[in-house]
Amino acid sequence: MLKINNLHAKIQDGAEILKGINLQINPGEVHAIMGPNGAGKSTLASVVAGKEDYEVTEGEILFQGNEISEDAPEERAHRGIFLSFQYPVEIPGVTVTNFIKAAINENRKAKGLENMPAKEMLALVKEKSEQLNIKRDFLARSLNEGFSGGEKKRNEIFQMMMLDPKLAILDETDSGLDIDALRIVADGVNSFRNEGNAVLLITHYQRLLDYIQPDFVHVLADGKIIKTGDKSLALELEDKGYDWLLN
Ligand SMILES: Nc1ncnc2c1ncn2[C@@H]1O[C@H](COP(=O)(O)OP(=O)(O)OP(=O)(O)O)[C@@H](O)[C@H]1O
Ligand SMILES: [Mg+2]
Repeated sequence: MLKINNLHAKIQDGAEILKGINLQINPGEVHAIMGPNGAGKSTLASVVAGKEDYEVTEGEILFQGNEISEDAPEERAHRGIFLSFQYPVEIPGVTVTNFIKAAINENRKAKGLENMPAKEMLALVKEKSEQLNIKRDFLARSLNEGFSGGEKKRNEIFQMMMLDPKLAILDETDSGLDIDALRIVADGVNSFRNEGNAVLLITHYQRLLDYIQPDFVHVLADGKIIKTGDKSLALELEDKGYDWLLN
C-alpha cells in the first residue's frame, strides 16, 4: 500500500530532517513508529501527507503503486491518506459535524460521486459518534475550539472513522488521553482496521500498543529508521530507553 524508498526531505530553505527512510506498509498491517523527540516522526507523517513546509530531495513515496511526492495534500487525501495531527488546528465557526460532512463530500466529488444523502450521513455520524462516546452537543461545537486535549484526539479518531481512509497516520493520538479515552480511541482504531487498510501509529508509549497490536515497530532516530522489530521491541524500549540503539 505504502512504499517509501530512500526518502530524504528537508524543511523549505532549511535543514535536512529525513535522511533516507525505507518503509513498506502492506494492506492489513499496523506499524508503530517510536523514537526520541525531534527524530523526524511528525515530519515523516507530514511529508507522506504532503504538507507544504517540506521538500522531498531524494527518494520516492509510492502509494498504491503511484508516486505521490509531487501531489497536493488534498489529492493524497482523495487517494485515501489520512493524517491526524499531533497538534490539531482550531476552525472557529465550523462545527465538528459540518467539517466532516464537507470532507466526506469533497472526497466523493473527487471520485465523481454525488454528495452523501443527508439521511445516510446522519446515520453514519450517529453510529461512529456513539461508538466513540461522543455526545451530540460536542458535534455542534466549533472544530477544536476550546477542546480539551483528549477531546481533540477523540475527534481526530471520529474523523478517521467517518472518512474511512486506506492509510491512517495517527501522530501521538494517545498523548494526553485518560485511561478510559485511551481505550475508546484504541477500540475505534481496532474496529477501523481491516484487511484492506493500514495504520501508521506514532507514539512514545508502549501502553497504546497493549490496546492496538502492531505488526511492526520501528525506531526512528535522526531521520533514519535504525531498528525494526515486532511488539516486543516496544517493551524493550520501555525498559531500556533509546541509548543502547544510538551508539
Ligand atoms: N517546519 C519546521 N521548521 C523548522 N524546524 C522543523 C520544522 N519541522 C520540523 N523541524 C525540526 O525537525 C526536527 C524533527 O521534528 P519532528 O517534529 O519531525 O520530530 P518528532 O520526531 O515528531 O518529535 P516529537 O517526538 O517531539 O514529536 C526537529 O528538530 C524540528 O525542530
Ligand atoms: Mg512529533
